[in-house]
Amino acid sequence: MEDRVRVMVVGGGGREHALVWRLLRSPSVTHLVATTPNPGFPERVHVDPASEIEAIVAVARRHEVDLVVVGPEAPLAAGLADAVEEAGFPCFGPRAAAAALETSKAFAKEIMRAAGVPTATALVVDPTDPAQLLAAEERCRRGRVVLKADGLAAGKGVVVCREGEEALEALRTMSRFGEAAARVLLEDLLEGPEVSLFALSDGERTIALPSAQDHKTLLDGGRGPNTGGMGAYAPCPLVDRQTAGAWVQQLHQPVVEELARRGTPFRGVLFAGLMLTEDGPRVLEYNVRFGDPECQALMALWEDDPVPWLLGAARGMLPNGEPVFAEGSACCVVLASAGYPETPRKGVPIPRGEEPEGVVVFHAGTAVDPQGRLVTAGGRVLGITGRGADLEEARCRAYAALPSWAFEGEQHRTDIGGGAR
Ligand code: AMP
Ligand code: GLY
Repeated sequence: MEDRVRVMVVGGGGREHALVWRLLRSPSVTHLVATTPNPGFPERVHVDPASEIEAIVAVARRHEVDLVVVGPEAPLAAGLADAVEEAGFPCFGPRAAAAALETSKAFAKEIMRAAGVPTATALVVDPTDPAQLLAAEERCRRGRVVLKADGLAAGKGVVVCREGEEALEALRTMSRFGEAAARVLLEDLLEGPEVSLFALSDGERTIALPSAQDHKTLLDGGRGPNTGGMGAYAPCPLVDRQTAGAWVQQLHQPVVEELARRGTPFRGVLFAGLMLTEDGPRVLEYNVRFGDPECQALMALWEDDPVPWLLGAARGMLPNGEPVFAEGSACCVVLASAGYPETPRKGVPIPRGEEPEGVVVFHAGTAVDPQGRLVTAGGRVLGITGRGADLEEARCRAYAALPSWAFEGEQHRTDIGGGAR
C-alpha cells in the first residue's frame, strides 16, 4: 500500500510549503490535499480549506487520505492528532498530551528530569504563592538566570538575565504574559552555540535527521529583536550525522520512552533546541514539530522517499535504517516584510523571481490580491533556499537568486549560514 498514498498536509506557511514540495516529489504520493491555501503550492495540490478540528477531519474523510502530516504546533496542542487518529487516520504529529512538551516548559522540565536528559537546572514557581515567590527572588539575586513563562507566549516569554537586578525586574513583570506565566521557570544561564536537532519517533523508537541551525535575530551578527527565524541551514558543521545519531539516543530517545511509560506516546518529529556547552549538549526546549525555517533546509536535502518514514512514524512502526539525505548543504534565507517583526506591511507586490538550478523558493506569507498580483501577507514572506555541494555553494545560490524576488521594503540577513547567529 505504501506505493500509493494519499496525503493531507495541515498548515500553510513556509515549513508546510517545503513539506508539500518534498512530498510531491515522492513516487508514493498519488494525491495531496492541503487545508490551508498557499500561493506557492503547485497546481497538483488540492486545496480544501479548513481550520477547525472537525472540519480538518472532514477533509481527511472526503479525500480518503492514508496519512495526515501536521506542520504547526497549535493544532496539535488543540488535539488535532487525537481527533484524526480517533477517526481512523494515521497522524504524523503527536496527540495533545505529548504536545504538552512544547506548550508547557514546566512539563518538559519534569519529563527531562524523569528521563535523565541533560538540561539547565531550573526552579519552577507559582509567583502568586508568597513562599515560592521568595525562593524565586532569592534565585534572581544570584544572577546568571533565565526566566521563562511556562506556557506559549508568542516566542517572547524568555528573558535572559546576567545581573540580579535585571532578573528581579524580569520576575516582577512576568505577569504581562498572563496565563502563560501562571508558572515561571528560573533556569541556570548556559552558554554556547545553539543547534536544532530533529528525531522522527514512532512512539517507541527514534531516528535522527541531520542537524540544523537557525538565525533568530532580525539583523546580521545576532543583533536586533528576536524573530520566528530569519534563515537556517543544514547540516550544522558542529554536529555531523554520526554525532546527531548519538545525541538523539541521549536527548530524544529517553523522552520518547518516558512518554510511552506514561501512556502518551509521541509520534511525529521531536525537535530539541540544544545549547552546546563546554560540558556537552544541553536541551533548552522541545518542540513537537519541524522547525521553521529549518524544515525548508532539511526538505531540500531529503533524498529517499520520505513517505515510508512519515507514515511509519504515524503508524507506530518506523522502518529500519536511516533516511537518506544529500551529502551537501542547504541554506534558506528569509525575505521578511517591512516592519517585521512588530508590524509587517501587507499587500506589497512581490516580483515573481527566478528559481535557477539548485534553488527552490518557499512561500511563507504571500497572497494573491484581487488584481492577481502576488503580494506580502505576513511577516516572513519567502524562504529562498539554495542547495549545493557544500554550505558555501548553497549560500551563494540562495543569495544570487534573492534580488530577483526582492519587494519594496523587504528585510533579509546577509550572513545566513555564515557562522554569526
Ligand atoms: P526557549 O524558548 O526555551 O528555547 O528559549 C529561547 C531562547 O532563549 C533560546 O534560543 C536561547 O537563546 C535562550 N535561552 C533559553 N534557555 C537558556 C539558558 N538556560 N541559558 C541561556 N540562554 C537560554
Ligand atoms: N526555527 C525555530 C522554530 O521553529 O521554533
